[in-house]
Amino acid sequence: MNRRVFSQIVALGAGTLGAWGESAGAASTASHAGGAPDQASPPPPPDERPPQPASVADFQRLAQARLPRATYEYITAGSTDENTLRENVAAFGRLRMLPPLLAGVDPVDTSTTVLKQRIALPILLAPVAGLGLYHEQGAAAAARAATAAGTIMGVSSSALSSVEEIAAAAAGPKWFQLYVPKDRVVARRLVERVERAGYKAIVLTVDLGERKDVDLRNRFRLPHAVLLKHLQDVGFPVTDRMSDDELMAFNDQAWDLSLSWKFFDWLRPITKLPLLLKGVLRADDARHAVSIGLDGIVVSNHGGRRLDGVPASIEQLPQVVDAVGGKADVLLDSGVRRGADVLKAIALGAKAVLIGRPLAWSLAADGEAGVKKVLDLLREELVSAMQACGCANVASIKRDLLLP
Ligand SMILES: Cc1cc2nc3c(=O)[nH]c(=O)nc-3n(C[C@H](O)[C@H](O)[C@H](O)COP(=O)(O)O)c2cc1C
Repeated sequence: MNRRVFSQIVALGAGTLGAWGESAGAASTASHAGGAPDQASPPPPPDERPPQPASVADFQRLAQARLPRATYEYITAGSTDENTLRENVAAFGRLRMLPPLLAGVDPVDTSTTVLKQRIALPILLAPVAGLGLYHEQGAAAAARAATAAGTIMGVSSSALSSVEEIAAAAAGPKWFQLYVPKDRVVARRLVERVERAGYKAIVLTVDLGERKDVDLRNRFRLPHAVLLKHLQDVGFPVTDRMSDDELMAFNDQAWDLSLSWKFFDWLRPITKLPLLLKGVLRADDARHAVSIGLDGIVVSNHGGRRLDGVPASIEQLPQVVDAVGGKADVLLDSGVRRGADVLKAIALGAKAVLIGRPLAWSLAADGEAGVKKVLDLLREELVSAMQACGCANVASIKRDLLLP
């Protein structure tokens, strides 16, 4: 999308969604009004450019203005009563930072290491399904933005581009998130392709079975051609002679939703890639994952899109970190909306965080530039929080910055 179209969308967002437009306008008026009037020179002309997105929430509003309602709701909603969705954000808000005074640091280094990979900031793109629905360049745009920001992209099994297409789009590091085809021949070929395409790790997501009221109400489903390409990209033997209903029925039974720990007996021997488990909330599960030699754990409730009523990920993080005892890298997602949230998660022991909806909203708003901008904003907010807390680097972000 070019700048002009983006500006129109920004203006549309401001115009149709009063609150943001009004507060942005009020802020710019206030800044012009500030300071003593200078009699000698005329006041500067008012800045007539449309407001620019300054936060994840601004990108959410832009996505809402741009996307079909059902698509926006698919991204944004949580499961059933959305208690967990709300808790994810509220729990970050309840955490209080208590920085020491006069501990000035400049510059601040946001780089860190995850699964032995050096990255420029401790914020990764979470695996998100349907990227091709939110922007015409879909997963390729997200991959380029992650590469430009110096971070890792988690590539969903349902990103709507093949693993090879995404690998070719940008050279930066990528992890592949595996939804498991029931047909283990298809599953094995997929894992082999991921390894050949240069992905750096496999993330096994185990909190399965999304159920959201809005999607039922909106009868949300992939268009036939999109679903066909998606299933072919994974490696399923589907053809364009199949009807819509046949394709849907195929998709409904194609994926293994009843995984157990035994699955790792199948997966571990067929790939050399590091393995992460995504969807961990319990200390005993984390201990089990470490005991079978998994390399990483993602503390996650799937952004409140799976079982409603489970606790916020950030609340479970300390006990998972303690259970893991440094034997695997622990990451966290669900509810990260600000750079200060990243600092809080790292203070509680996460190596890094992943962002789901902020990726989808910013991609919808402005493709690659949007995702890059949201990563930049979060990095700038993180730098600001680190400076305020006297942390010159990620390793110096410690638990005692937070009120117990
Ligand atoms: C639209 C959307 C699609 C998602 N698709 C997947 C997926 O295909 N695989 C997966 O493991 N997680 C998926 N997730 C969950 C994210 O990886 C991540 O756990 C979650 O979004 C984090 O919460 P946040 O949205 O509050 O950042 C999806 C999330 C969203 C918002």
